[in-house]
Amino acid sequence: MKYRLPDNFKMGASAAAWQTEGWDGKQPGQDSLIDIAYKQFPDRWHEGYGPAVATDFYHRYAEDCALMKELGMTTYRTSIDWSRFILNYETGEVNPEAATYYSNVVDELIRNGIEPMICLEHWELPYPLFEKYGGWRSRTVVDCYIRYAEAAFRLLGARVKYWFTFNEPIVFPWLGIMDGAWYPYTCNTREAMQWNYHKVLANALTVKLYHGGDYGYREGGRIGIILNAAPVYPRSQSADDRQAAAMCDLFYNRPYTDPCIKGEFPAEYFSLLERHDCRLVYDEADLAVIRDNTIDVMGLNYYTPHRVKARSSAWNPAVAFHPQYYFENHELQGKKMNPHRGWEIYAKGLYDFAMLLKEEYNNLPWLVTENGMGVAEEWKYKNPDGVIQDDYRIDFVADHLRWLLKAVAEGSNCLGYLMWNFTDNVSPYNAFKNRYGYVEIDLDNQRQRRPKKSAYWFRQVVRQGYFEY
Ligand code: NOJ
Repeated sequence: MKYRLPDNFKMGASAAAWQTEGWDGKQPGQDSLIDIAYKQFPDRWHEGYGPAVATDFYHRYAEDCALMKELGMTTYRTSIDWSRFILNYETGEVNPEAATYYSNVVDELIRNGIEPMICLEHWELPYPLFEKYGGWRSRTVVDCYIRYAEAAFRLLGARVKYWFTFNEPIVFPWLGIMDGAWYPYTCNTREAMQWNYHKVLANALTVKLYHGGDYGYREGGRIGIILNAAPVYPRSQSADDRQAAAMCDLFYNRPYTDPCIKGEFPAEYFSLLERHDCRLVYDEADLAVIRDNTIDVMGLNYYTPHRVKARSSAWNPAVAFHPQYYFENHELQGKKMNPHRGWEIYAKGLYDFAMLLKEEYNNLPWLVTENGMGVAEEWKYKNPDGVIQDDYRIDFVADHLRWLLKAVAEGSNCLGYLMWNFTDNVSPYNAFKNRYGYVEIDLDNQRQRRPKKSAYWFRQVVRQGYFEY
C-alpha cells in the first residue's frame, strides 16, 4: 500500500551532544555526569568506547550537515552540552569557544536547509553541580539550569524555533539514582522522585522564561520537553492486571506528562509517595508555576511499549519502596522482538500513544523525536560494495511511520518523525555495540561515514513524499 506524507511533515533524525561530539574543546573540569560515568568506569562501556571521541561531530559537523542535506533530511534535533557551554555553572558564565561552536553548528544546519531543534539537557548535567549539590536532588541546580537556559536562548533564540528542556528526564534518576544500574549507582527512591520533581519545576520555569523573553523567534518559537512515555498494556483484562498497568503509567509516564502538559501532578502520585515514605519536598508557589507554564510541544521517544501484570510474588518488605512494588513486567514470548536490545517491536504502540495525546492531552502539537532499531554486528549485512543492507531498519521505520500517519489522518497533531539516529553513535554503556544510524560510522577507518541502504530509502521517501509498505 502507498502511504503519503503530509505537507511539511518534518523528516529527519535526532542525536545528543555527548553521544556525538567528543571532548575536544572542553576546558579542564568541564565534565558532565555521563562523562564522569565513563572516566571513572571505562571498562563498563562496550569495548571501551565512550563519549571521549564519540563520532567526532565536534570536528566533523560540516561534513555531517552536508550529508544530511544530501540524504534529504529536513530536521535535526540535538542537544547543547551544558557542561561544555557554561564555564561557571553557578553564575551562568558562557564558554566563548563553545558558544562559537554551537552557533556554527546551527548556522551550518540552516545553510544546508535543515531545521535545527535544540534540547538543553540530554543527561549532560555538569558534574560539579552533582558533586557540590547532589545534582537534581537540589533546588539550587534548578536555578543554575535557568541561567544556562537563558544564555542558550540569547545565543541561538533567533535561529532556533523548537526548544526542548530535557530529553528522557526520567531515565537517569530511574536507572542511576533508584535502580543502581547506571552511574552514580545509588538505590534511593525518594531522591530519584525529588530529582524528577525538580526537573518538572525547571521545565516550567524555563517555559515561563522563554515565553516571557524576547529571543528573536518569539512569534513562532515553541518550547517543550522530550519524554520516553510509552503505552502501557495489561497482560489481561483482570482488575489486578489493569490496576498494575495504571500504576506503571502513574510512575513511569505521568510524573512528566501530567504536570508538563496539563499543569498538575496526579494527586495519587503524591499520596502514594507519601504512603511509602518518599514524601517530596516542594512548595505551593512552585506548583502554581507548574500549573501556569505548560509546554507548547512534546517530543516522544518511542521504542517499545510496557507490558505489565500484577505482581505474582509479594514485594520484599526489606527492600525500600520501588514503583515495581505495584507491577511487574509481563513475559514477551510470542511478541515480535528486536533481539539485539531485547525490546519488543510494536509499531501500533505509536498510534495508541498518539491517540492518547489527542484524547487525553488536548491534542497538543508533538513529534516523534526518537524511534529506531539498534542492531549489533551490523557489518555482517554489508554487500560487496560495503553498504549495509539494513532492510530490517527500513521495515521498522516504515511500519512505525504508517501507524503514525494513520494517527495523523485521524487528527493527531503530529508534526514529524525524527529517527534515532543520523549516524551510529555512542549509547550509554553499550557504546557502539548496537548501531542505530541511517549512516554507518566505520570505527576501523577513522570514523568514516557511509550511508546504509535505509539512508537511500529515506531520501527516496522524502523526495517522492510517500512510501510503499
Ligand atoms: C534514548 C536516548 O535518548 C538516547 O540517548 C539513546 O541512545 C537511545 N534512546 C537509544 O537507546
